[in-house]
Amino acid sequence: MAGLIELCLALAPGGSVAFATAAYPPFIQQFPRAGLRTVLIPLRPDGSFDLERLEAELRDGLRVLVLTNPHNPSGRVLPRDELERIAELCASYDAWVLADEIHASLVLPGATHVPWLEVSDAARERGISLISASKAFNLAGLKAAQVVTASDRAQDVVRRLPYTAEQAGLLGVLAAEVAFSQCDDWLDDVLRQLDDNRAYLRDNLPDGITWTPPQATYLAWLDCRGLGLAEEPSEYFLRRAKVALAPGTDYDPAAAGFVRLNFGTGPKLLEELVSRLRSSLD
Ligand SMILES: Cc1ncc(COP(=O)(O)O)c(C=O)c1O
Repeated sequence: MAGLIELCLALAPGGSVAFATAAYPPFIQQFPRAGLRTVLIPLRPDGSFDLERLEAELRDGLRVLVLTNPHNPSGRVLPRDELERIAELCASYDAWVLADEIHASLVLPGATHVPWLEVSDAARERGISLISASKAFNLAGLKAAQVVTASDRAQDVVRRLPYTAEQAGLLGVLAAEVAFSQCDDWLDDVLRQLDDNRAYLRDNLPDGITWTPPQATYLAWLDCRGLGLAEEPSEYFLRRAKVALAPGTDYDPAAAGFVRLNFGTGPKLLEELVSRLRSSLD
């Protein structure tokens, strides 16, 4: 978040930043606190990016898009053709894309992630990628992300950022180096477990909950509207099942009836969690 905010301030001072909703909640809360106006671009019902809406915002003066890929909370991995279209559109309006690729190491079997800086020349020219070991290697508290560029213009932006070294922790830097260079076996095990967990959820979630299993991440975006609950589903499940899920409205004001479930855990806890959800509905 520190990297994204610094870059947004550098590229759109006092201006606007757009992102797709549903979105990681700090986008909704922290960008305005930093003085930025947020422009929400609702994802289409099938989870894809709304290019027409993006073009309308670009026409209206938008110059910075934060593009989260893989997406949080849907876990969708954007296909290459969608990325190419976004890059072309943004280039035609001289707009920047800040590619939030924090979940890129957590792409599950069946999907392929195309890093923003490999999409096209247009993407490289006005694109900056942000990555981190924090999600895949569970290092979030250590505070160290990486900003990656592939054009002189983008590198120039990063060079001009104010001094922000205090926002990276030394242990975070060391841990990121070790994670990315020495921990592939560990990551393979994590991905296998997440793939199994995803399959377990696919087979065992209660009827009435609908979802599209994620292509990446440990996140399940669940539509609980079919359950016909009389209260907000995360409150219901916390009270009746003692299972803490995140309310959909944290991610999108329009997502009442949705919850986000984090399945980044071992099989025993996941089985317990699902069994509690099921019995709370009996
Ligand atoms: C899409 C996305 N962007 C940014 C962040 C925040 O990263 P950091 O904790 O490094 O600020 C997260 C963390 O959950 C995230 O899911």
